[in-house]
Amino acid sequence: MKIGVTGAAGHLGRLAIDGLLAKLPAEDIIAIVRNPAKAADLAARGVVVRVAAYDDTPALDAALAGVDTLLLISSSEVGRRAQQHRNIIDAAKAAGVRRIVYTSTPQATTTALILAPEHKATEEYLVASGVPYTIVRNNWYTENYVQEVETARKTGAIVTAAGEGRVASATRADYAAGAVAVLLGEGHENKVYEFSGDYAWNFHELAAAISEIIGRPVTYRAVDAAALIELLKGAGLSADTAGFVATLDGNIADGLLGLVSPDLSRLIGRPTTPLLEGLRAALG
Ligand SMILES: NC(=O)c1ccc[n+]([C@@H]2O[C@H](COP(=O)([O-])OP(=O)(O)OC[C@H]3O[C@@H](n4cnc5c(N)ncnc54)[C@H](OP(=O)(O)O)[C@@H]3O)[C@@H](O)[C@H]2O)c1
Repeated sequence: MKIGVTGAAGHLGRLAIDGLLAKLPAEDIIAIVRNPAKAADLAARGVVVRVAAYDDTPALDAALAGVDTLLLISSSEVGRRAQQHRNIIDAAKAAGVRRIVYTSTPQATTTALILAPEHKATEEYLVASGVPYTIVRNNWYTENYVQEVETARKTGAIVTAAGEGRVASATRADYAAGAVAVLLGEGHENKVYEFSGDYAWNFHELAAAISEIIGRPVTYRAVDAAALIELLKGAGLSADTAGFVATLDGNIADGLLGLVSPDLSRLIGRPTTPLLEGLRAALG
């Protein structure tokens, strides 16, 4: 069985390929990348590397030839990715791919999360394509909070507009293990899984975890969106980026990342990585 992976040179793609290499011969794994130089190490391990940018439909057609199951890791190009994902799904369908596993976002079709519309559009397009699918709706990466550790080292505080909101994060390695379980396992056709950590932490708990890591007290300060935007602009962020971060925080305050589901730990056969451990691992 040939497994294709898009975004294969990215963080999640690499971890998924590591997991696949533990179970499959390297020549059965097809890494789809846009920059082959970034995948030289994968080629050296015997993985088949094919080059295709998501806007290059002829290249996608060629890259997907012979793929049985595709891990479609969502693109990082926010604003352009619904079309990019449609291109990949079309090419996969034309190539006779037998199942597409898509990495989505929590409760993609019903949530108000600011990042969800492109995922919702992709899920709907995928389901309508008629290609068997598995949707894994990944919650936040614990690694997203490495920056907070650096901020706390400098200031002794973390500041958000997320209030008492909670985040059911897991590590990229957890999500990659979940993707591998779904790619190689049976019975996942036309299923939707909510992948999350086993516990939804709040920002007081994040501050406590960071405090333990850096060995000094860290306070959590909750501010409103307007105050956060001013603070972020003062730190050099553009008004657009600051507004986006504040909106995401508002989404967290509204509970949109707080859903804990047993799907991920059940499929990987172990608990997800706790916040403190995940942050420590991300810091290396
Ligand atoms: N759940 C979360 O907390 C969270 C956080 C961040 C992102 N995400 C989503 O999860 C995905 C995987 O996460 P990650 O950490 O692995 O992200 P990542 O390291 O940024 O990897 C994204 C990969 O997509 C590739 N890519 C982007 N645009 C492309 C294009 N037009 N054509 C071909 N390849 C393209 C990139 O290629 P290059 O290596 O050439 O740039 C990169 O390898 C992200 O893309 C994003 O959709 C989720």
